[in-house]
Amino acid sequence: MRILAIETSCDETAIAILTGEGDNLKLEKSVVRSQIDLHETYGGVVPEVAAREHLQLMMPLLHRDVAHNGEGIDTIAVTAGPGLAPALRVGVETAKALAWAWQKPLVPVCHLEGHIYAPWLSGQAPEFPALALVVSGGHTELVLMTDHGKFERLGETLDDAAGEAFDKVAKMLGLGYPGGPKVAQLAIDGDAKAFDFPRAMLDSDNFVFSFAGLKTSVLYTLRKHEDQLNEYKFRADIAASFQEAVVDVLVQKTMKAVEKVKPASVILAGGVAANVALRDRLKQTCEQMEVPLFVPEFQYSMDNAAMIAVAGYYRALNGHTVEPAELQVNPNLDIV
Ligand code: KG4
Ligand code: ZN
Repeated sequence: MRILAIETSCDETAIAILTGEGDNLKLEKSVVRSQIDLHETYGGVVPEVAAREHLQLMMPLLHRDVAHNGEGIDTIAVTAGPGLAPALRVGVETAKALAWAWQKPLVPVCHLEGHIYAPWLSGQAPEFPALALVVSGGHTELVLMTDHGKFERLGETLDDAAGEAFDKVAKMLGLGYPGGPKVAQLAIDGDAKAFDFPRAMLDSDNFVFSFAGLKTSVLYTLRKHEDQLNEYKFRADIAASFQEAVVDVLVQKTMKAVEKVKPASVILAGGVAANVALRDRLKQTCEQMEVPLFVPEFQYSMDNAAMIAVAGYYRALNGHTVEPAELQVNPNLDIV
């Protein structure tokens, strides 16, 4: 089966072509056009601006990489949510029009499910049940994947997502958008023990996260040390101590879930999976606990359509296709 996948949930316009045969996957093409430069001036993603940019980029991308009559494409997969409604709509309406015109099956994909499938792109196939730590700009959750397309949520954040906390702290430090990579870069020169930021819900017996208190604590610390705000070392210490608090909570909660559900593998998924401190610590801990860890390659940690193609492929194999006229975007679509 040869799949064309389209992803426009936030600020990346992406298409991919993937061929699947049984569990053999071959990624033929993956193109990602980032809108970072555009949104940087606004300090964050403006949904209508993102949508307009997706519209402008979509046709040239398809025109370059896909035959006009859809020849050679068997199925079309598209991110239906979660994400920004105006942005999602560009991808979904494009996919619907192509599926209708070419008379091909259409498969809606949950963006988070796509993130979980990213390790499959490197020829890895995590064994089930797999425990996925999903950490993106909008979500932080622990999900148990018992089979292709079958998920149970163990717990999620009560307030901010981990990526959102990175973005907000970046704003406080005047680092701009997108915040995660900038905070991570600054943290390299900082002392992670300089400030003892709170680790919420660490002792609770569930898999619930909370990052709002940590964010506020960073804000109060910055206010208290206003005179040091322009000192590089102080700012690096804040970034490193904040990152350490996030990594501590994410890794310890994941380990608690490993102890409880005894998964055959662990998957790190979502944009925050690009964070090296998190990758390293989770790797160490999984080695100690003797559970295999699957982490996407850097280029597939961030939003892309290749991961949507993999998720769409397994969905299509299981017959999860829809009539083009019936598909609507769902900005709050969930994995379970
Ligand atoms: O998955 P993603 O690309 O988009 C969503 O689906 O939300 O995730 C984006 C999030 C942003 O909050 C961004 O700041 C964060 O991932 N992020 C990082 C890093 N790279 C991206 N957070 C921490 N460290 C990074 N290196
Ligand atoms: Zn994402």
